[in-house]
Amino acid sequence: MRLDKFISKATELSRKEAKKVLHASEITVNDEVIKDGSVHVDVDNDEVMWAGEPLSVATGNRYILLYKPEGFECTLKPKDYPIVTELIAVPEQNRLRIAGRLDVDTTGALILSDDGKWLHRVTSPKHHKPKVYELTLADPMNEDAQAHAVKQVANGIMLEGDTEKTRPAELEFIDDTHARLTLTEGKYHQVKRMMAYFGNKVTELHRASIGDITLEGLEKGDSRFLTDEEVAGF
Ligand code: URA
Repeated sequence: MRLDKFISKATELSRKEAKKVLHASEITVNDEVIKDGSVHVDVDNDEVMWAGEPLSVATGNRYILLYKPEGFECTLKPKDYPIVTELIAVPEQNRLRIAGRLDVDTTGALILSDDGKWLHRVTSPKHHKPKVYELTLADPMNEDAQAHAVKQVANGIMLEGDTEKTRPAELEFIDDTHARLTLTEGKYHQVKRMMAYFGNKVTELHRASIGDITLEGLEKGDSRFLTDEEVAGF
């Protein structure tokens, strides 16, 4: 953004008044006095000051998809591992909040934003966006056990400690230890608890997609901004 525009956006000054302030040598960019209003400033990274006071303009909200690797926590106050926001190279990354956490050992699609209202919509159970999980089981399940689990999951199951059944979900076996589970809700440790219901244990868990949003083109640890269309889809 042009410096004179930046100044008038960040203050109540008109562009003409901003020019006067510039000519009076009152503006510094990264500690250097700048008098030329046509100079370009990077609104996220340059430090613009007026008579020693920092100026800033609202840069708008950020909507991000991260391919979460294992070994990162989704809590604001991580205890044992680094926080996922460390992986995202944007200014003020500590303002980002997570929609639908993943466990430390889970990999996959994670949505973050600093737009509180939007996050509320994303996590609202009203939206029922399907989330696809790929999982590996500790113990092989034979065909009968698989058919039983598929049926139970489709009807909803009562997890330990819950008062409501899980919403109808789709479980699809790839082989006797690998399955794909599509959920439209996000209860605490839901996938692991659902498999524990069938006496099994999840050894690997990956969230492949959230609604139409997939990890295509991203490597573990990479992130990208969501498109306007993806943001509007919630
Ligand atoms: N369900 C789980 O059990 N863990 C996750 O990380 C996500 C869903």
